[in-house]
Amino acid sequence: MNIRRLSLSRPWLCLLAVGLATLWSTARAETVALDRLEHIHGLAVDPAQSSRLYLATHSGLFLATPKGLATRVGGSKDDLMSFAAHPKDPEVFYASGHPPGGGNLGVLASRDRGESWQRVSAGVGGPVDFHAMDVSRAEPRTIYGMYKGLQVSGDGGATWRQVGPLPKDTFDLAASARAPEALYAAARGGLFASRDGGGKWTRAFPQPRPATLVHVTDQEVHAFVYGVGFVAGAEPGLGWEVRSAAFGDRFLLHMTVDPDDPNLFHAVADTGTVLTSKDGGRTWVSYAGHDRETPEVVAEAGRLYDEICKSCHGAKGVGERPEDMYANDDYGVVAPPLDDSAHGWHHSDGNLAETILNGSPRNPRMMPFKEIISEQDAGNLVAYLKSLWSPRSLACQGARHMRCMH
Ligand code: HEC
Repeated sequence: MNIRRLSLSRPWLCLLAVGLATLWSTARAETVALDRLEHIHGLAVDPAQSSRLYLATHSGLFLATPKGLATRVGGSKDDLMSFAAHPKDPEVFYASGHPPGGGNLGVLASRDRGESWQRVSAGVGGPVDFHAMDVSRAEPRTIYGMYKGLQVSGDGGATWRQVGPLPKDTFDLAASARAPEALYAAARGGLFASRDGGGKWTRAFPQPRPATLVHVTDQEVHAFVYGVGFVAGAEPGLGWEVRSAAFGDRFLLHMTVDPDDPNLFHAVADTGTVLTSKDGGRTWVSYAGHDRETPEVVAEAGRLYDEICKSCHGAKGVGERPEDMYANDDYGVVAPPLDDSAHGWHHSDGNLAETILNGSPRNPRMMPFKEIISEQDAGNLVAYLKSLWSPRSLACQGARHMRCMH
């Protein structure tokens, strides 16, 4: 062995190894599967392409696509505990939270959609780590932040003052679209409103159940009330309407509305799943794949299902019963329900499509369908099956189902 050559090449080997490791980790850090993102604390629609979403997470800002991937924006890996997009200027974001090394970030602003951030203020008693914040649509220089009570800035975040106490255990804040001194707080004791910048609070939703989200657009106030569901009302009277009561024991934490379509919502559930509603919060689909999941595609896949799947899995996926005419449990299993009454939702979209195309290794009755349908058809069949699921099951789909087992 040539010792000299070995010792000469060692630094190069080290350099190469370090270089490769860096490349590998940056490549991995830059684009991740959407369902790998943990702790999404805020969302905003990309003004350049409305199907894409900015997601503020505990390890920086990401831009997600309906393909189910998310790519890091800028270089920051800060834990963005709170995040708010400027309601009028699409370039401007605000955030607060923690740098990866510990401590608090104070109030950050970005004028290039999250590529770079500057600290605009430490906040009162700071540096603060706001756990919720919102920019007033009525007067965008007014920003509210939650840190040891309520703080407000009247000059776009440069200076702050402490205002009245917040309702106990406030989870989320939203400034009213009608007046800069009016705002809402979603708290353990319910949804509250203040007309005097946080001096006094009154109940804004009649039931004293935990409110986990509040969000305001020029048209509506949206909230999630645990045990009631997703609710919406118009300011000033609110006159709440329950848009969806199908979340069961799950709930929504943050949401955003497409600036070009007041009925297109994106929201993150407590399980971390991003969901989309195209009808103002009445029905929800997974954000991943929502762009091709049109009513036409679902209806067409429904017809294909009736043709080739219904004979075993039953109408609308209710499953086979042993007494059904063609039921055959020689293998000890009947065709399971594919709606959300059994455990179809424990599988990811990819797993479901895989079973449809390649069949079940355990039971030849679930045969490979790839001879007669395309991959596209299989994807559309998955979309059809998921249209039979509640938002509760969608929020718990795939690897996340373990979290929903209590
Ligand atoms: C001849 C009867 C039959 C037909 C037709 C059939 N399946 Fe199945 N399917 C089964 C059986 C039986 C199983 C259970 C397999 C097992 O447990 O290994 C199954 C399992 C599945 C599963 C896995 C469910 C789970 O929870 O693990 C999916 C998904 C599925 N079928 C979808 C479809 C779709 C979509 C079609 C139409 C393209 C279809 N099946 C047509 C009998 C059928």
